[in-house]
Amino acid sequence: MKIFLDTSNVDEIKEGVELGLVDGVTTNPTLAAKEAGKGKTFSEVIKEILAITPGPVSVEVVATDYENMMKQALKVSQLGSNAVVKIPMTLDGLKAIKSLKEKRIPVNCTLIFNPLQALLAAKSGAEYVSPFVGRLDDIGEDGMQIIDQIKTMFVNYGIGTKILVASIRNPVHVLRSAVIGADVVTLPFDVLKKLPSHPKTDEGLKRFLDDWKKVSPSGEFPL
Ligand code: E4P
Repeated sequence: MKIFLDTSNVDEIKEGVELGLVDGVTTNPTLAAKEAGKGKTFSEVIKEILAITPGPVSVEVVATDYENMMKQALKVSQLGSNAVVKIPMTLDGLKAIKSLKEKRIPVNCTLIFNPLQALLAAKSGAEYVSPFVGRLDDIGEDGMQIIDQIKTMFVNYGIGTKILVASIRNPVHVLRSAVIGADVVTLPFDVLKKLPSHPKTDEGLKRFLDDWKKVSPSGEFPL
């Protein structure tokens, strides 16, 4: 399963890439707006993200009508070979996805909240579908259930569109995504940093080091 970072923050992406855990990035207008006022233009930030990320970077259009979505999508696709156009799940969006597929421009269809939306995006030619699990949990639904259903549908029909689990809030979302067989999870940086942690790991490490100090009080490693 690929791990993407769900951020527009260049420092977080650099750190994630150095850890060797980041395969790609997803941005959205909310995440981009958080970086505004830090001395770089939107265009500079996106170009830097594209340059430092080893894989796909989703950049979302903000137009809602087909013509303007297409204009913005073409601009995004010209930014770099790893640029993926993020298009919202609407009728105009589906039409744009079809046109972009014909031009071989990869699309991540965003704001998916039920399995049929994912099926339509796949039929239109999306490279990725982004179901938002956390926002479904927020309203009392089980977000991960739709990942399971999308996976079943895509297997049933041999659909190659990748399932990119979005709106992830915690490591359990990541675990359940992997068990279901999702292709990608996109994580806020704080969730990525939680993944390697376990209290028994910390406790075990402390005990090993305390025991070692009994024979080597300076903690020296005599090899
Ligand atoms: C997906 O690509 C979106 O950027 C993101 O996962 C939304 O998550 P949120 O519900 O935490 O805003």
